[in-house]
Amino acid sequence: MTPKDHAVFNGNLGRLSGAMLTTVALIIAACAGQRSMWHSASGPTAPTADLKQSVESYPTLMTPRMSSALATSSPTHRVTAPEPWTAYDTDPKHPWNQLHRVLFGRTDRTGRVFGREALDPYIWPSSTYLSPTGSSHEDALRTFDEFMNSPRTGPWQDSVRRAVIQRDLWAVFDQVTVGGKAPRQPELEHRLVQAIRAVALSRIEILGLPDSLELAIASGAFPTSFNGSHPATTYLPPELVDSTGAWVCLGRRDGPAAITHVEKGPFYGRSVFLPCVRAPVGRAATTEFLAALQENPRTADVPEGAEVALVRRALLIDADGEIVPSPLVESIQIRYLYERGGMTAFELILDRERLFLHEQGGLVSVGLEAQDFPLFRAHDIDRFQSSASLDAAGAAQGRSPLQSCAGCHVERLAGIIGGASILTISRERFPVPEGESASVLPSSIEEASSQTIAWKRTHPSWNRLWELWGK
Ligand code: HEC
Repeated sequence: MTPKDHAVFNGNLGRLSGAMLTTVALIIAACAGQRSMWHSASGPTAPTADLKQSVESYPTLMTPRMSSALATSSPTHRVTAPEPWTAYDTDPKHPWNQLHRVLFGRTDRTGRVFGREALDPYIWPSSTYLSPTGSSHEDALRTFDEFMNSPRTGPWQDSVRRAVIQRDLWAVFDQVTVGGKAPRQPELEHRLVQAIRAVALSRIEILGLPDSLELAIASGAFPTSFNGSHPATTYLPPELVDSTGAWVCLGRRDGPAAITHVEKGPFYGRSVFLPCVRAPVGRAATTEFLAALQENPRTADVPEGAEVALVRRALLIDADGEIVPSPLVESIQIRYLYERGGMTAFELILDRERLFLHEQGGLVSVGLEAQDFPLFRAHDIDRFQSSASLDAAGAAQGRSPLQSCAGCHVERLAGIIGGASILTISRERFPVPEGESASVLPSSIEEASSQTIAWKRTHPSWNRLWELWGK
């Protein structure tokens, strides 16, 4: 597609700079391609129902040349397979780093180990990684024992490191208990729960953890608004935390508004996802925009520069085994929308090392050139096990997370991103559970947290954790 072709889809282009033109063009290109690609996805083990909604059903249209032209200068994430693993301590041999590596590190056939920067472990339902048949299982058990027997100094004495490793351990626990097809792994599950319990903080300590969103804003590390001259630069709007400003965060009467994220893997209710929306000229305008979206997302006028955000915060388990909402932000996704359709997508994610160094609330921007291995509603293909997802040399091939956004945030029939791309409201492709109301209303992080905790407490992964908690 040439920029000229994009004009067909986007009446706005006249006002956009060259760089923005390319960004928008890429997104539009992804949308335009989606109609023909809709049914062409193939995944050997993916259930049919998931195929339509899988992010991988969409073409990857960004060429390497384009992506390097768009690369941002801000620090980016998830690009390489970096060594050594020193997130939790400067010594790569430290039992905390070893545990992190054995649980999160996945090796491709060229010997590169991915996952150090991953938020969620690279484990898919069909993965045999960590299962009793794989060599990783024995390694994991041994590493757990070293971890549990290590002197209670260093990271053991830091509440932020304890919080973060707990969320890492809990993610693996959920993935191996309910997320996988492999047979039950009682030994591993038992050790995971022991470790989760050993690092657990008190409720007061969890609530007193640093609010990473506030710290990231206060650090001044990110521009505060979208800049048309530098459209690929990640920004972080400070008003996101202002509950009386133009941003309105959304809830649902019957459960979390971002229910698809809550209930699906790799998340399984361990994070609170708060969707928020903003129209450019103040709270009254946002309320009006919301009303129009609720009425009919397809026909609602999208004001130029409307924004939506999805803030993910970690839930933690306190020393009494209760789920407590933490102020730690794991990711912030933002979509900046254009009046005639189209969007630019941004993501900030938690970087363990930066968080431990008290830098910018631990958040870094995910650049367009970043790569990752999709887990959320992705095909069930283990990217390190399956030859199909390795290149000829056996190297694992990641995908650009920012390019994947348009795979789901698209109007199905129009093929152009408009009001219906706001999936929290337009529920056509990702319906809320049967019998529940889909309509949204203004809400808060507190409400989203208690709804998510209530959801998690009924989930089989939580029952299993509880079975093992006291043992
Ligand atoms: C696999 C599908 C999928 C992909 C890929 C995806 N999202 Fe979403 N997103 C959703 C769903 C579904 C919701 C609605 C909330 C819910 O129920 O979880 C959502 C909600 C959001 C929201 C809240 C406002 C809204 O539009 O509903 C934002 C912001 C958002 N996503 C941004 C992004 C960004 C940025 C990316 C790419 C980095 C992305 N999303 C990739 C499925 C997806």
